[in-house]
Amino acid sequence: MAPKIFLTRRLPEPAMRLLSAHCEVDLWDDAERPAPREALLRGAAGAAGLLTLLTDRVDAELLDAAPDLKVVANMAVGYDNIDVPACSARGVVVTNTPGVLTETTADLAWALMLAAARRIVEGQKLIEAGGWGPWHPMQMVGVDVYGASLGVVGAGRIGAAVLRRASGFGMELRYHNRNASPELEAATGALYRSLDELLVECQFVVVTLPLTPETRGLFGAREFGLMRDDAVFVNVARGPIVREAELVESLRAGRPRAAGIDVFEREPIGPDHPLLALPNCVAVPHIGSASVATRTRMATLAAENLVAVLAGRPPLTPVHAVG
Ligand code: GLV
Repeated sequence: MAPKIFLTRRLPEPAMRLLSAHCEVDLWDDAERPAPREALLRGAAGAAGLLTLLTDRVDAELLDAAPDLKVVANMAVGYDNIDVPACSARGVVVTNTPGVLTETTADLAWALMLAAARRIVEGQKLIEAGGWGPWHPMQMVGVDVYGASLGVVGAGRIGAAVLRRASGFGMELRYHNRNASPELEAATGALYRSLDELLVECQFVVVTLPLTPETRGLFGAREFGLMRDDAVFVNVARGPIVREAELVESLRAGRPRAAGIDVFEREPIGPDHPLLALPNCVAVPHIGSASVATRTRMATLAAENLVAVLAGRPPLTPVHAVG
């Protein structure tokens, strides 16, 4: 008999086909709205596999409601929505989708760096508001990316991909991570710095860390205060790594000078969010991995992980030691 699985969202067709070929699929059949908690708990009860998104909380309560569960396949590289120790304690395998979204997310980090540095969104809004008067020498001046210094906080795959892209921009490269990474240094020429040193030194600061108890709230008024007054701060990681109210105050005061933000403390944000009122902040709705090809690959990898575990094979990309 095919194992029962629950999907918290309809996925791109290749993933749906793979899952339907091997499993009895139940799903929250709405591609846009998340499954309410009760629907998730109901769907998980009796399921051997769960395919989750970063908006679905997998905790002890859910695991207790799902005694047959063998695998939680998260369609994201981050898995801060999942209580991994609680899953391990119950023998439930957790998988994520590393690798397939690296380059797409690094592209977005660069889009935000360039947009914030060169005031792209602010410029479009100026035109839309009928505010584009005669050309003048210091109209809409921003900061240069070419030849600037770039510091990446987090030395994983995405951090390395952000650094690699800098080679055409003649940048000075720095990175910070819990541990130094000789491989990253060899691949990119980036030099290791303490977080404070990096913040003092680098004009562009890009966050690519996972959200963990150690990184929650890592950036606040003190860290923004260390930055240069021409600094551009970019976060493509997770919102709660930044104390958002303190970022708003710091941007108002002009240090950092500009920011590009893909992730927020509580998502989704609405049009009244204070960051949107700041001309020096470019904000986008958590779209780091959002290309057609990458989202399709993420869904397919999550489906492959789920099918593998339910067939008794090792998962392709587990987040913890299993077995
Ligand atoms: C997206 O934010 C992810 O973690 O894949």
